[in-house]
Amino acid sequence: MAKEGIFTFHNGVEIPDIGFGTWQIPNEEAYAAVTTALENGYTHIDTALAYQNEENVGKAVRDFRLAREEVFITSKLPAQTKGYEETLQAFEETVSNLGVDYLDLYLIHAPWPWTEIGKDCTEGNIQSWKAMERLYNDGKIRAIGVSNFSESDIQALLDACDIVPMANQIPFYIGRDQESLLAFCAKHNIVVEAYSPLATGQILSSPPILEMAEKYGVTPAQLCIRYCLERGTLPLPKSTNEARIIENSQLDFTISKEDIETLDAIEDVRED
Ligand code: A2P
Repeated sequence: MAKEGIFTFHNGVEIPDIGFGTWQIPNEEAYAAVTTALENGYTHIDTALAYQNEENVGKAVRDFRLAREEVFITSKLPAQTKGYEETLQAFEETVSNLGVDYLDLYLIHAPWPWTEIGKDCTEGNIQSWKAMERLYNDGKIRAIGVSNFSESDIQALLDACDIVPMANQIPFYIGRDQESLLAFCAKHNIVVEAYSPLATGQILSSPPILEMAEKYGVTPAQLCIRYCLERGTLPLPKSTNEARIIENSQLDFTISKEDIETLDAIEDVRED
């Protein structure tokens, strides 16, 4: 049974159901942003080697002086880093940047390098995954997963490896509901994490979202983040502004089934 405020991976590890996203927060701003998030009750921080902010994310967490097990830290293997030894090395760089002994969740950032989207890197992903399985079995990571993986990208790992990914972190927001990928992940007990739950801010002035937020007496951002939870995904909202960091964690309302269906029918308004 699902516990309030928690998702549970298939290996029993628990992850707080809202994460503080740090994509596009520069290293200079990451210390203040993460400190503000921790001060306001976030206990789940999401970063990546590619974000170039791990040093200050880690410093903020360490300086906050919560017990290490009180904070859930995710980081990611860079999208262009494929292969067994390369993965072990990148992991060492990440834990050294963060100044931690272990990671709670480590993800393959993408199935292909960002400069070669769509390239078939199956063999490289399998080798990286085997390295992550080793780090997991050695107790250096509590859960392992992927990001931006399609059904076939995940299936390739299932066919060749031992451990089913515990999470897949994907872009997910009102208008981009990823129906078949969500069903595939549910079938394999893979938690779906929603990055860009506000479509990087681009859906917050959409008239149907404004209208429904008003109906519930919440802000458009709160509606968007709550939608992710109602759809069974784990949102990772990002902000550097204290009032918005607080707002994004205050989600004490539910959206009716009928209104979820209305939101599901909204088309993707985001411009890439
Ligand atoms: P800021 O950091 O100035 O708050 P996403 O999480 O989908 O990537 O969206 C992040 C973007 O949305 C950032 O530009 C962020 O700006 C903005 N944002 C985050 N929270 C809110 C909010 N509650 N209201 C309005 N904009 C927000």
